[in-house]
Amino acid sequence: MSQQIAVIAGDGVGQEVIPAGIRVLSKLRPDLEFVEFDWGSERYQRTGAMMPDGALDTLARHDAVYLGAIGWPTVPDHVSLWGCLMPIRKAFELYVNLRPAKLLPGIRGPLADRGPQDVDMLFIRENTEGEYAGTGGLVHAGHPSELAVEAPVFTRLGVERCARYAFERARERSKTLISVTKSNASRYNYVLWDQCVERVGKEFGDVEVQRVLVDAMAARMVLRPDTVDVVVASNLFGDILTDLAAAIQGSMGLAASANLNPERRWPSTFEPVHGSAPDIAGKGVANPIGAIWAGSMLLRHLGDGTASERVERAIAAVCADGAPLTGDLGGTASTREVTDAILEALS
Ligand code: NAI
Ligand code: MG
Repeated sequence: MSQQIAVIAGDGVGQEVIPAGIRVLSKLRPDLEFVEFDWGSERYQRTGAMMPDGALDTLARHDAVYLGAIGWPTVPDHVSLWGCLMPIRKAFELYVNLRPAKLLPGIRGPLADRGPQDVDMLFIRENTEGEYAGTGGLVHAGHPSELAVEAPVFTRLGVERCARYAFERARERSKTLISVTKSNASRYNYVLWDQCVERVGKEFGDVEVQRVLVDAMAARMVLRPDTVDVVVASNLFGDILTDLAAAIQGSMGLAASANLNPERRWPSTFEPVHGSAPDIAGKGVANPIGAIWAGSMLLRHLGDGTASERVERAIAAVCADGAPLTGDLGGTASTREVTDAILEALS
């Protein structure tokens, strides 16, 4: 049977960049079967739910999930996020969020005298617990004394499995791993985080670990990006640092990510990092590169490293040419024109 990819294009520019990605993946792999679902904020307004009953069972029957963006101004963000993305990440144990950040040739980043040799980072963000564990509640709701409590959750199992994945990636690259922490101010969560990373590190004697405080890490990414290779971080720190990484790459529209269940018990999800971009949605000008790059990560996950590398080379070739590029990168091209150029560069 052919491999089946569930597609949730979702909201806003998700509807524009995911079709672009499917064009690229289908050209390389005509055997892939894409199964589309209309889940998202528009469906919420019609039916009161972001996804139908049994949605997770439906997704579980697929080999991977290709995702656009979830969230639109008409639905509160915590409702849309917890109605779709969070249930998928938790139910499928997608405990690794994998985020490459490299400066492509031809892209003028904010660190303009830096080049592609200086920016090639790989972020591993813990994706199921930490500050986004979902533990907490509201007391005295609606009263002047209203109080919200939200408690971060760090478990030995959760940190160690994520750290192990990060050490494996570091072993394949520079053999150094930066562990982002805040164990000076945080006396419990990040102390446990440090201990877990250290314990797993004993299994990887050939990998050097650097423990870096999150605030210093933000500065280092901008001032000395050449000293950053593989990074492991908690859910909140990883969320913030990878948006910084996207900015260093030159645009949110370039950034790609994978939410992985490394044991492959469940389908993993592949998505551009950006959201639904209401300010540009519907105009056909969204940058499709983040979505297409996420597609190349999907191909690698399916075991097709050759096709994956072809997509990454095609993206790099179009950037190196300096055109066609979308407005976020200083160009004037449409989503379709950039996608056409990448398809052309594939052949
Ligand atoms: P956003 O990522 O949608 O937009 C931030 C800025 O980046 C905007 O100026 C936008 O025009 C630009 N941008 C984003 N994607 C682009 C692309 N492909 N090409 C060119 N420019 C692009 O973040 P924002 O505005 O904070 O959130 C909008 C909605 O998206 C919210 O409802 C939010 O919750 C949701 N969201 C969903 C995510 C997901 O599904 N993983 C991630 C981030 C936000
Ligand atoms: Mg984010």
